[in-house]
Order: sequence, then C-alpha cells, then structure tokens
Amino acid sequence: MSNKALPAWLEAAAPLFENAPQGDLPVEPRGNYAKISDPGIRGVVQRKWRARIGSVGKLLNSIERNPGEVLRGGGGQGVMCRRDVGGIQAFCKVYRAQELRRKIRDALGISRTRREWESCMRAQEAGIHVARILLAGTRREGLAATHLIVTEPLPGVSATHILRRLNHEPELRDEFLRVLGAYVASLHAKGFWHADLHCKHIFFTRRAEPMLIDLDKSRISSFLSQTARDRNLMQMEKSFARELDAPDPAPFREGYKAHSA
Ligand SMILES: Nc1ncnc2c1ncn2[C@@H]1O[C@H](COP(=O)(O)OP(=O)(O)O)[C@@H](O)[C@H]1O
Ligand SMILES: [Mg+2]
Repeated sequence: MSNKALPAWLEAAAPLFENAPQGDLPVEPRGNYAKISDPGIRGVVQRKWRARIGSVGKLLNSIERNPGEVLRGGGGQGVMCRRDVGGIQAFCKVYRAQELRRKIRDALGISRTRREWESCMRAQEAGIHVARILLAGTRREGLAATHLIVTEPLPGVSATHILRRLNHEPELRDEFLRVLGAYVASLHAKGFWHADLHCKHIFFTRRAEPMLIDLDKSRISSFLSQTARDRNLMQMEKSFARELDAPDPAPFREGYKAHSA
C-alpha cells in the first residue's frame, strides 16, 4: 500500500468508487491468449477463460438471442450489452461488417477483431492500460462477418462520472481537466491515437490510474501528425461541453501542453 496522499479531485470523487468494480490494473500479456478453436470462428481467447466460456459460437448465438442488459443498439448494426460470460458480468460487443472493402479483408482472413486485439496488446506493451479482453473473435458468413469482443469490467469509474461530480467545484474540476490533458499528452507521446477519444472512454482506478476502452480503429505509430493530435483534443473538448456547465478547455490544454514532448 502506498502512503502517497490522494489528489484533491480524487478525494472529492471517492464516493463514486463505492459501487465501482474492484481489482488491480488490468494487464494481460499476449502469451495468455490462445487461438479460438471453434470451426468458422477466427480470433483469440484468454487461455484461463477458455474452459469457462466453452464454445464461442454458442456464446455468440446466445448473445444474439438474449443480450442481457443492452447498452446500445440492436438490429443490423450489432449490440453492446452486459451479461454473464463464464461467471462474470462482462461487456460484450457484437458488430457486423458492412462495407465491401472490409468484407473482402474479412474474407481474406484478416479479422477485424484480431486487429483490435492486436492494437490493445500494442497499447498495453507501450504502458497504456486497456480493458482486459476475454475474447475477440470473428465468425465469417460468406462475404459478411459477425465480430464479437468481450471485455472484463474495468476496476474504476469513467472520466464522465468524475467530471459530472466536479461540475460545481471549479478548482477541482480544473485540476482534473489538467490531469486529462496530461494523460492525452502521454498517449500521444507514445504514438497512440484513439479514433474516438472522449470522457466515456477513459476510466480511472481509485488510485488515479487511467485506463481506456473502445480501441476500435485506434493505432500506435512512431509518428503522429498534428491533425491527428488536434482531432483527439477536439473530441475531448466536445465531451467536456456535454458534461459541464462551464466547459472551459484552458486547463485541459495547459495539462496537455505541459506534458507534451
Ligand atoms: N470493459 C469495460 N468496463 C467498463 N465499462 C465498459 C467496458 N466496456 C464498455 N463499457 C461501457 O459501455 C459503454 C459502451 O462501450 P463501447 O466499447 O464504448 O461501445 P460502443 O461505443 O461501440 O457502443 C462505454 O461507454 C462504457 O460505459
Ligand atoms: Mg464507445
């Protein structure tokens, strides 16, 4: 246990953590994954979970029939839901390939879920914490495909909930915005770019350690253009405007600048 004093914004946000999932920062080395062995499904599954999950095909059918707690969507676009998978309430995202180019790539065998898993592994290897993937698999159906990603709940709360809590505490809110700015700078310094960076996709543990979700289309490279950086900054600022009564982005920009290489 560290005796380091908690930052003031985190003290103020402490009640949010009372009902949040507990646990250590997720770290899952790529060696802990095995290929999915179901016929017709490509992808990876955590070895430890393989027996508990059983057939991935059956799980996918069962989610399609009975998704549990639906968080988004349904219909042709797929669904994001929370349901029991091998004894835990996991987040399950099902989506379908639509555009032709992607269908062709899927048909050639480079599955989208495999790429997403790969970018999570690379992010993790660069020191970026991401939701722990239990399984990431693609079922091919001729030229179409259905993708399934199952993740374990993150041990913490989202930056959205923290921001809402600090909405009427200007000093603490600005302190937290600086923390977010510093975090985005650290992601960019590692060459990491999130295609949809906003407060709902950033979580914090009760020790103020940041984590990410929804890495679909994110990438990590040795060069990140200014346009790409600006895009993430603007996505973040838009999300402040949704959550705050006085969404002044200055402290966020300060935090970003102070931690940019
Ligand atoms: N591993 C996770 N831990 C905690 N919450 C999650 C996790 N995965 C998803 N969520 C919650 O579900 C919401 C939707 O998930 P997300 O991956 O962003 O899917 P999409 O944006 O495609 O609907 C998130 O905003 C978050 O609130
Ligand atoms: Mg999302």
